[in-house]
Amino acid sequence: MMTRRQAIKTTALVTAAVAIAPAVIGQNNPVPATAGAFTLPPLPYALDALEPHIDARTMEIHHGKHHKAYVDNLNKAVAAHPGILTALRIEQMLQELGGGGVGIGFDMSKKMSELPVNIRTTIRNNGGGHFNHSLFWQMMKKDGGGEPKVELGKAIELSFGNFADFKTKFTEAATKTFGSGWAWLVLSKGKLAILSLPNQDSPLSGGEQPLLALDVWEHAYYLKYQNKRADYIAAWWNVVNWDFVAERYTKLKV
Ligand SMILES: [Fe+2]
Repeated sequence: MMTRRQAIKTTALVTAAVAIAPAVIGQNNPVPATAGAFTLPPLPYALDALEPHIDARTMEIHHGKHHKAYVDNLNKAVAAHPGILTALRIEQMLQELGGGGVGIGFDMSKKMSELPVNIRTTIRNNGGGHFNHSLFWQMMKKDGGGEPKVELGKAIELSFGNFADFKTKFTEAATKTFGSGWAWLVLSKGKLAILSLPNQDSPLSGGEQPLLALDVWEHAYYLKYQNKRADYIAAWWNVVNWDFVAERYTKLKV
C-alpha cells in the first residue's frame, strides 16, 4: 500500500512532469490515456525548417509515418488493456517498465507486471517511440546549435570539463550506438550522464530523466546521408534547441 509520504511525492512528481513538457504530452494528452487518446503532436516548425541539415522529406516521413505508427500501435495496446493503462500517463508507463520507477515516486509496478509480456513489449517499443520522438522534435529548431548557457552550460562544464569534450563524448555515443537507437544526455540521480540506448528504450525506464536526445535510427537520416551517420550527427549539432534543453534541466534538476 502506498504510504502518505509516497502519495505526496507521487502527486508532486506527476504535477512536475506535466509542467516539464506541456507541448510533449500535456497539450496532446491532457487527460489519462484512453483508447485513441495518444495523438501525434504537430511539429513545432515547418518540415523544411531544419534544412539543410535535416531535409524536409526525411522530416515528413520520420514524423508523419514513423512517429505516427508508434502512436497508432500504442493506442491499440491501451485499447486492449484499458483497466490498467487508462490510469497511466506515458511517462508512468515507461517508468514502470523499469521496475516501478525506483527513486521516482510511482508505485504501480505490480499493475504493470500484470500485463502480458507482449503488451509490455509494445509499450516499451511504441510508447518509447512516441515519448522519445515527441521530445526529439522539440529538441531541435531552425537556426539552432551553439552552446547552452546559464545553469546547463555550467553543469556540462562541471561534468565533462568543457562543452567541446561533452560534444565529443555525446557524438561518440551516437556514432557507436549499434544498429538502431538513441544517444542521450540525462539526469541520473541529479548528475549529468551520457547514454546510448537501443531501439526505442527510454531513459525513464532506467530511472533517468532525458534532457537531450539524438535519434540514430537509419530512418532519421538515410534519405540525405545514406550510410554516413557521422555526417548526420555533425550536421545535427546545428539544429539543437538548447533553450528547450536548458529549460528542462532547470525544471528537472531539483
Ligand atoms: Fe526516429
